[in-house]
Parts: sequence; structure tokens; C-alpha cells
Amino acid sequence: MTDRKRDLRSVESYGKLDRDGFIHRSWMKAQGLPDDVFDGRPVIGICNTWSELTPCNAHLREIAEYVKRGVWEAGGLPLEFPAMSLGETQMRPTTMLFRNLLAMEVEESIRGNPIDGVVLLGGCDKTTPGQLMGAASVDLPTMIVSSGPMLNGKHRGRDIGSGSDVWRLSEAVRSGEMSEAEFFSIENGMSRSRGTCMTMGSASSFAAVSESLGISLPYNATIPAVDARRQVLAHQTGRRIVGLVREDRRLSQFLTREALENAIRVHAAIGGSTNTVIHLLAVAGRAGVELSLGDFDVLGRDVPLLANLQPSGRFLMEDLHYAGGLPALMREMTAFLHLDLPTADGRTVGEILAEAERYNPDVIASLDAPVDEVSGIWVLRGNLAPDGAIMKPSAAASDLLTHRGKALVFETIEDFKSRIDDPDLDVDQSSVLVLKGCGPVGYPGMPEVGNMPLPRKLLDRGVRDMVRISDARMSGTAFGTVVLHVAPESDVGGPLALVRSGDEILLDGPARRLELLVDEEELARRRAAWRQATRDPGPDRGYAALHVRHVLQADKGCDLDFLRGASGAEVKRESH
Ligand code: FES
Repeated sequence: MTDRKRDLRSVESYGKLDRDGFIHRSWMKAQGLPDDVFDGRPVIGICNTWSELTPCNAHLREIAEYVKRGVWEAGGLPLEFPAMSLGETQMRPTTMLFRNLLAMEVEESIRGNPIDGVVLLGGCDKTTPGQLMGAASVDLPTMIVSSGPMLNGKHRGRDIGSGSDVWRLSEAVRSGEMSEAEFFSIENGMSRSRGTCMTMGSASSFAAVSESLGISLPYNATIPAVDARRQVLAHQTGRRIVGLVREDRRLSQFLTREALENAIRVHAAIGGSTNTVIHLLAVAGRAGVELSLGDFDVLGRDVPLLANLQPSGRFLMEDLHYAGGLPALMREMTAFLHLDLPTADGRTVGEILAEAERYNPDVIASLDAPVDEVSGIWVLRGNLAPDGAIMKPSAAASDLLTHRGKALVFETIEDFKSRIDDPDLDVDQSSVLVLKGCGPVGYPGMPEVGNMPLPRKLLDRGVRDMVRISDARMSGTAFGTVVLHVAPESDVGGPLALVRSGDEILLDGPARRLELLVDEEELARRRAAWRQATRDPGPDRGYAALHVRHVLQADKGCDLDFLRGASGAEVKRESH
């Protein structure tokens, strides 16, 4: 027997005129597929993180249908498959523990199946980064369609932002400024539609980064989840991915160092989530692109805040879309961007931006009149964080960016929760709250608890921000003078483990310094004692055990050490 066309990866399976080809085709025909769809046309996998346990992605089954329309129309064969869904508001102990598991699943699903290109459907915080990490290791033609942001929240005639208002209003309840009854009534108006958090949280930030990388179509980051234009974008993505396969335009052609530089600068201009730092480092590690934690500080340093969006500003994602979307924002900062880079759309970055228009300068500011001169991610170093720690200056109190104060230490999050509202807590406005045990190994999974609620006794006195330091992450929707991702983390013996209440700590944001002002001899004594301390050995079975044995620290992106780099698309052995 002579094989059918042999130019596409899928033909290795569907084009074979032998027993193996029979097996690959025949069982697929059980789904009502006619013989001629196995004629060598591009097979497009649609990797879907739809789940009712991930409400932000709950409409992705419907979105997948629009992608399929486009794939069929362009002469491809669409095949949808599920991938583990990570619902940020539902999963314990934290979705971050499972991001790499999703990435492994996506990598092996793409590698193991006869597909030529893939469209990733994700949105909720860890779903898109996990999918992109897995796809980057295989390196087929790849595009992203995001869930899109939910509609603006509403309460008593004003807008309510996902997450950001939860943090703000829960503090108002603790300080007695708001009743519990009113707080709970806001639940009904905050999440009014399917889609991701509509603040510039982690989901919106990564959607924006994906769009700026050119791996999703223009406006993917901002079209509301329930706007018909998202269905149109899904349809157009289905058409386009078939084109990318025919042109053999693989993901690695878009995930370049220059594209990542654009993404980091855009991330600074939008006041993006601190979580993006970890995810982009992990994606770069998969793609084999040199990227370091310090690049975020260096590349974003001169970029001002242009997006006036919560948590750094006032508006929400729906407003950003109506103001012109991400292309309009990027057009305001072309001086910082590489404009000649290709995009999956087929045009260069510069060609897309040339057609963008800004409709509302209150939402999208200009370089001449930015929302804030200070933006981006500051990367701090010093004896408290030898491998780095980060903070987001646009979300911090300007009078705390440089601060010296006495540490108040919490050994675990449970310790923190049990004592923070104690009226006898030895704390004042100048104290520095220090939380340990929340890193990638220690928790495990590095939860979003770094934006510790303030002590009630200080809230009662009108204090609204304090310096907080931890090896945890924080929600992209959160704000405050919060130093995060301290590396190495306390549970692997990083200097954070040595801090004791009463020690002086110096935060000098503008100089990028984070110092524990304790002499080296005393630190050496503490280090020796720490080694002898009995530590919780952590999980001993299942995926969590694999995670704690292999997870990298935050400055390396928290990927598993054996997953960095590429596996490639070639699988030599047949299944039967
Ligand atoms: Fe899913 Fe915010 S909880 S995007």
C-alpha cells in the first residue's frame, strides 16, 4: 500500500495505508467524520480548559465551537480535547501547585496526538500559562483564545472590581466602615458574567502579554467574554491557525527574546500582575530563550503606567476595550517596542498598531501624561533575598517605598491568621510584617497570601498600608507595599528563615535593596540552628511529592527542573 500525503505531522497517523492507519482513522470515524477529512488537511487540536469548577472558563465549550467553524472553513480538521482546569477561586491549597501538572498534561497531549497545530483555550490565572508552557515544549503552530474579561461589576450605581474590591472592602468590614450585610450583598453584583477577573489581575495580565507576544489575535485580551466579538475572534483564530500550519510558523518563531522584551514592557505599562513574572520566566525556560528576573526591572524601568486600571488605577477591562484595547495602548508606547516582529495575525506588530485608535485618554494615558511615572516590577536584592524578591511600585504607597522598621514575624500563614487581630499584638505602623513558609516548596505551591491583611488594631487607627515581606505570591488584583517571591524561600533555608521579631529590616525600593540589619555572626549562629530544626517533611506521595522535590525557586519561574526546555513534536514509536 502507498501512504497518502506525507507533509504534515498528522499524516504520520491518518495518512498511513496499513493496519496502523486503519486503527487511527477507523475509531475517529465513530464520531461521524467522513473518509475525506483524513486527506492530509491540517489537523487542529483545540486544547480546552473548560470546567464548571473554573467559572472564568465556563463558556469555553461554546467558544471552541467558533474556533471549529474557522478551522473547517479554512480547510482544516478541528479536534477538541480537554486539559486539567485550574479554578483560581476553588482549588486548594493553591492552583499554582498544579500549573506545572497542567503544563505536563498539555505537552504530552499535544505530543502524543496526531495534530499539526493547536489553539489553547484558557483564561483563569494558571490555565493559560500552564497551557503555553506545555505548548512551548512541543513547538507546533500555536495560538491562544482567552476567556476574556467578565463584565464590570456593579454595586449601588458604582463599578466593582474583581478581587481588588474584595481586598479593599473586606478591610473596610474589619475596620467597621462597612457592615457585613452590605459586604455580602456585593457578592451578587461583582461577578456578573462568564469570564476572567475584570481588573488588571493575573488573568488579564497574561492575556495582554499573550497578545503582545503576537500569539493571539489583536483585541483578544480585552474583548469582554460575553461580547459577540469574542466569538468572531475565535472564528478568525480557527481560520488563522490553519494558515500558520500551512506556513509552518511554529510557536518558537513568535516566542523570541525580542517578543518577550515587548511583553515585559507592555506588562509595565498596564501595571500587570506580579504573577506574570513567574509565568514568563517559566515560558522562556521552555522555549529556550534567555530571560532573567533582573530583565523585568531593567526592561520596564523607564516605562510609565499607561493603563488606568484597578488595582493600580481606577477603571476595569471592559473600559479598556471600549477605550481602544491593547493595540491602542501599545500604540502610545511604540518608542519602547520592537515593531517589526511577526504576529500570528500575519501582520507585524507595527502594522497592527498603525491601525489602532485610542478613544478614551482617561483609561489609556499617553507617555506625556501617564497615570504614574513609576510602574513595572522592581527586583530587590540584598542579604534577605540573595536571589531576588519583587514588588509592584504602582500598587504600593509611595511613602513606604523606602522604609526601615522592626520585623513582626509569622512562621506560617496559620500563625498569622491566629494572631493578626490580637489586640495585644506588638505592632505599630512602622512594623514590617514578615511571613514565612509560603514558598514553592514550603506551602507547597506558593499561595497568594503575600498581601497580608493589616492588624485590626492598626486598621482601627486608620492605617491602610504597611510593608509586608514573604516568600508567597499575591493575587494580581491585590495592592499594597508588598515584597513577594523572596528567593531562596524560607523552607529551603533562605535568609528569610532567619528573621526574628524585633530585627530591623531596610526596604529601599528606588535602590532595589532589601536588607536584614543583623550582623553576619548572629546570622551564622541562626543558620546553624535552623539546619538542626525539625521541619515538616512535606507531602510524600503523588504529584505534590514530585513538585516539592523538583520545583525551582521563584526567580527561575517555579517550573519543575526536568521540564525546562523542549521535548519536540516527534514521537517515533507507534501505539500498536
Ligand atoms: Fe479566574 Fe480571576 S479567578 S481569572
